[in-house]
Amino acid sequence: MSVKSSLRNAPPVQLAASLQDARNYTLTLFNLFQSSGLDDPSRVPYLATLNPPLWELGHFVWFAEWFVLRDAPFGSLAMAQRPSLLPDGDRWFDSSRVAHATRWQLDLPDSSIIKKYADEILNRILEKLAKLANDAAALYPYRLALAHEDMHGEAFAYTLQTLGLAASPQLAAHTFSLVPQLELHFEGRTFQMGSPAADEFIFDNEKWAHQITLAAFSIDATLVSNAQYQNFMRDGGYEKLQFWDDAGRLWLTSHQRAAPRYWQRDGGSWLQQRFGKLIELADAEPVRHISLHEAQAYCRWAGRRLPGEAEWEYAASSGNPDFRWGELWEWTASPFEPYLGFSADAYRDYSAPWFGTHQVLRGASFATQPRIRSPRYRNFYTPERDDIFAGFRTCAR
Ligand SMILES: [Fe+2]
Repeated sequence: MSVKSSLRNAPPVQLAASLQDARNYTLTLFNLFQSSGLDDPSRVPYLATLNPPLWELGHFVWFAEWFVLRDAPFGSLAMAQRPSLLPDGDRWFDSSRVAHATRWQLDLPDSSIIKKYADEILNRILEKLAKLANDAAALYPYRLALAHEDMHGEAFAYTLQTLGLAASPQLAAHTFSLVPQLELHFEGRTFQMGSPAADEFIFDNEKWAHQITLAAFSIDATLVSNAQYQNFMRDGGYEKLQFWDDAGRLWLTSHQRAAPRYWQRDGGSWLQQRFGKLIELADAEPVRHISLHEAQAYCRWAGRRLPGEAEWEYAASSGNPDFRWGELWEWTASPFEPYLGFSADAYRDYSAPWFGTHQVLRGASFATQPRIRSPRYRNFYTPERDDIFAGFRTCAR
């Protein structure tokens, strides 16, 4: 993908178009929840992996208002320069203060009020942005708000999948590329990992660029396919405990899994639930909705391992066109930890609260907006998450 399309260095005019585009997309997905009656939080099942869509919409609009219009740089209410346009916005939508479980029980207004708030905030943001020059510091809150809304746009997409609802035509129509399996070899070398201090937007967890020395390694050019994964299953992958570590065994017992989430037997073959529809499992597509535990068990069975995030970043930055990525997030062998010299940026809770408990995923998924994709981007989730659009590739040596 071209660097030009990245929000990291998008100039004001492009940023304005992207903010509008992000909102069109999130509203399209929100309307899918609404047409199923799920704009009413009390009708949304309580799950640790999702938010009531109405709360989520209010939250990312409030977040944009907070950073762009209220000039509240360090996440403290006392530092906001002016009140929210919604008198109860701070009480409802601050993800740092509103505990997850309580998001189902707030006295939220109905969706027409939140949508009006969303329109008004976007209009004011675009007006303010139109007066700005192409200056990284001045554009920082806009780029942050855009990245944040894009992340919630992807969360809307996997929430649709979790709830078995139809997706937008664009998401539903995505066809995965069916490419032959190939292994790429990289010589050992030193490379620069992370983001240098540059005149562009970076996430705090990419700070700072540092030298890493890698031993030679081989890595799959593409993700593990459904066909490959079925070989693991046929060989008793889910029954033979020697492939699973302690955490994996615990997960296996508590989830009673014998196949990936969303797979269903159909005689001798498999079907897969995708956005509320049962479809035939395509052998050559990458296996998806895989937890870290399953990815690790597969690797142990195959005599392989997951790539470390440094190996992944090096391979993705190498310019080798055979290294394909961007259709599913990829589990790595790396726990989510700060790089040396890390300090939290304006969005204090973006990374710091999650170090040590989450695992790094690299790449992007078919539901990730092109403008936030980057070989340096570090995504992170807890190991049991199989509701997100995640797969994996393997490594040797
Ligand atoms: Fe958020």
